[in-house]
Amino acid sequence: MIDYHDFIAEVLIPEDSLQKRISELGEKISRDYAGKELLMICILRGGVMFLTDLIRHIDVPVAIEFMAVSSYGIGGRESSGNVRITLDLNCSIQDKHVIIVEDIIDSGHTLASVIELLQTRNPASLCVCTLLDKAERREVDVPVKYTGFPIPNKFVFGYGLDIDDYYRNLPFIGVVDLDKFKPE
Ligand code: PRP
Repeated sequence: MIDYHDFIAEVLIPEDSLQKRISELGEKISRDYAGKELLMICILRGGVMFLTDLIRHIDVPVAIEFMAVSSYGIGGRESSGNVRITLDLNCSIQDKHVIIVEDIIDSGHTLASVIELLQTRNPASLCVCTLLDKAERREVDVPVKYTGFPIPNKFVFGYGLDIDDYYRNLPFIGVVDLDKFKPE
């Protein structure tokens, strides 16, 4: 994998802005769910960084669970609309207050399928918290209760989002210059 300095076009969201917004979201969620218990379901893999930072700012009791969903072809960058659950929950969500945590909503196909599935399991409530929302790319409507940042239609990476499987570890969101990025 080539050094990201060779293909980054710009830092779209720096680390301090990410962390500030995530703390605001955590405080809002704490207020909204005061007196309740929360189950936060992270959609692997991109949502992991966001989940782990977000829950540190929530002061109601939080349980975490993970789901994995395959919606892009291997190595592909476009959602196929053909969504498959590859890792399901280990617990019942019946009568629980559930928040689905995502790194990014693009076409909306992934979340639309996850929401449809989870609704059949009778949670007390179900909503979505996404760090990034690329609304311009939406193909199906998805109700989103908490959004970190609306973003333009650019190819972003870092802070959970990969470029060809790498660089999820960066603490900021960057934009890829596709003229400079050459997959190996
Ligand atoms: C990304 C992202 C969302 C989905 C959004 O996951 O984390 O789950 O795509 O796209 P959509 O709105 O068009 O459905 P990806 O499939 O790249 O998996 P990853 O999180 O493991 O990188």
